[in-house]
This record gives sequence, structure tokens and C-alpha cells, in this order.
Amino acid sequence: MSALEPLRLVCVSCRRSDGEGGVLARDLGPAEGGLLCPGCGARYPTTDEVSVLLAAGLHPVDPLGALDASWPPDAAGWCEALASEDPASAAFREAGLLGTYALGHLPELAPTEALRAQLADRVELAGLIDRWLSRHAPPRELPVLELGSALGTWAPRWLGATDSQVALVDLRPSMLRLSRRLIRGESVTIPWRRVARHFEPLTLALPGGAAEPERVLHLLADALDPPFVAHGFGLVVAFGLVDAITDPWMLLGQLDALVAPGGMLLLAQPFHYEPHAQPPEAWLDGPAALRRALAGGLPGLEHLGFRVLEEAEGVPWPLPAHDRLVHRYLAHVLLATR
Ligand SMILES: C[S@@+](CC[C@H](N)C(=O)[O-])C[C@H]1O[C@@H](n2cnc3c(N)ncnc32)[C@H](O)[C@@H]1O
Repeated sequence: MSALEPLRLVCVSCRRSDGEGGVLARDLGPAEGGLLCPGCGARYPTTDEVSVLLAAGLHPVDPLGALDASWPPDAAGWCEALASEDPASAAFREAGLLGTYALGHLPELAPTEALRAQLADRVELAGLIDRWLSRHAPPRELPVLELGSALGTWAPRWLGATDSQVALVDLRPSMLRLSRRLIRGESVTIPWRRVARHFEPLTLALPGGAAEPERVLHLLADALDPPFVAHGFGLVVAFGLVDAITDPWMLLGQLDALVAPGGMLLLAQPFHYEPHAQPPEAWLDGPAALRRALAGGLPGLEHLGFRVLEEAEGVPWPLPAHDRLVHRYLAHVLLATR
């Protein structure tokens, strides 16, 4: 086995171009309450093992107050508060999204039989990924990165694909805080929307219990400005990000920069767009456009040189909004290397 490559975190505040196509970046070191750049002195706080690695001046959007050390609040009181919350508010929407992603990832915990039945084919994606990763193993000595990881429930799978570490990156503090606790083997209770403004507590836990938390890093960071050295990952995963991030073109450039030589890229997306999240002029027109972009066939991305190893279309991707509404996306999934 080759020597294990540990995950290196670099300062996103003083990172800069070296003028010759390379990048100058300093490794972060431990400091009281978080991480510190020995060069520029930037400090990055850590709350309950979730590190905030955003460039100076950038603050996370946190309508639920999830960066507060005491978060999450008591679920019964939280449900009660939501009953009088404006449904158009960010706090209502974000609380709803927690349940959506929770049950999208852990459908067996859905509170009704009807909902569990609607979410049952969610397992197809997991089976597909297991088959692909058994046919094309990423380099085990390198870390794995998942961008836009939400609750991070795929992490046990990524741990099985590396002897090094797994980094989970998202911009939502609430998802990362819950994810960290789930990975530690704790149960967490969040509001689940039954109907209208009626929420009830829903308790979540990972089916397999703790997932080697010492090998999993939770990072609140921007996938468009990731706090890593170039080409450091054996596998980079992004599910539902190409069609959700503000700039998918820049994301593809970053994915290319993160994957190590011989490493792999695993993408899944339904190509469903929301104009408020991603401007229409940035939308990729489905699988063919993505394939062309990854192969270097689109202007501005000519340097990309990925080869598709596996691909599947129409993979069911159910996501529940509440007891009476399940969105059924059909995902395009691909595994590529270069
Ligand atoms: C559509 S959700 C998909 C979540 C999860 N991957 C899944 O498949 O269920 C997109 C996720 O990406 C995160 N996200 C959006 N923009 C991001 C960015 N620039 N950097 C990191 N995460 C981002 C969101 O917070 C959200 O958790």
C-alpha cells in the first residue's frame, strides 16, 4: 500500500496565484477555538467539531442560528415556534429543508407507511454507487471529498473507499451541525412538517451508528473556493450541486483542480434549476452538455479532460416536502476519471 496522504487544509484568506499558473497557499494549524493561518493570521472558528473555513469578510447564511454552540434547540419548542412562523421566512424554509434532506437520506425513518413507500426507491442510487466503486476503486491512500454534503449520510460509504480521511463540505451550518452529531453516532431530533404549519419532532440516527468520526472532517466552506491543496483527493463527490450552485462552470473548474491524477469524480444531478439559486444563463442543458464540459468540449473549460467510466440516467431521487408531498426527481449519475 502507498503511504497515506492526510488531508491538508489551507488558508482561503491569503491564498493567491504565483503568477505562473500555480497557487501559493499556507497550511492551517490548530489554535485555541479553531484553526489559524501562520502566514496572514486569519482565524477560522470551530463549533462542535464543525470548522468555518470561509475567506475573510464572508459570513455564512445562518437563519437557524446553527453556529451558536447550544444549537439545535429543544425540538418540541422549535415545532411550537414554527406553528406561528411566516411560511415565507428563511427560518421556516430552512427548518423544512432539514426534514426534507433528513428523510431523503434516511427514508426508513419517515413517520408514515405511505411516505416510506414513496421514498423506497431511493436505495437504487446507493446500489448503483456500490457497484461502480467495486468495479473502479479510487486510490485508497488519498482522502475523499464530498461537496454539498448536507447531512453527510453517504460518509460511511466514502470511508469504505479510502484508508485516509473523508471531508464533508457544505455552506449550511445547520446541516453540518446535525451531520457531525450523526457521524459521532448520536441521535438528533428535528422538526418534521406533517401538514401546513404543523411540525412534529423527528429523531434521526445513522443506521450503522457512529461512522469513524476521527476520520471525517466537517467543513463549512464554499465549493467555489475550497480550502484544499490542488489534486489532493482520490474521489470527489457532488450530488445535487452542479444544478444548485451559483456558478456551475466555476464548480467544474474546481472539481478538476481537486481530483488527483488517477482519481475519480462522482456526480449526480436531476438538472432541475431554480432561477433564484442559479441564473438561467449558467444552466447546463442536461447530461450531454455535462459530458462535453467534462471532456473539455465547452468554451472556458477546454483544460478539462475527464473520461466517463460509468453513467446512468433516470435514477429515482425522491425528496419529501411534508407528509403529503414527495418531489420525484430523476437523476443523471456519472463516474469519471482522467
Ligand atoms: C440540492 S442540495 C443536495 C444535498 C445532498 N448532496 C443530497 O444529494 O441530498 C445542495 C447542497 O449543496 C449545498 N451548497 C450549495 N452551494 C454550495 C457551495 N457553494 N458550497 C458548498 N455547498 C453548497 C447546499 O447547502 C445543499 O446542502
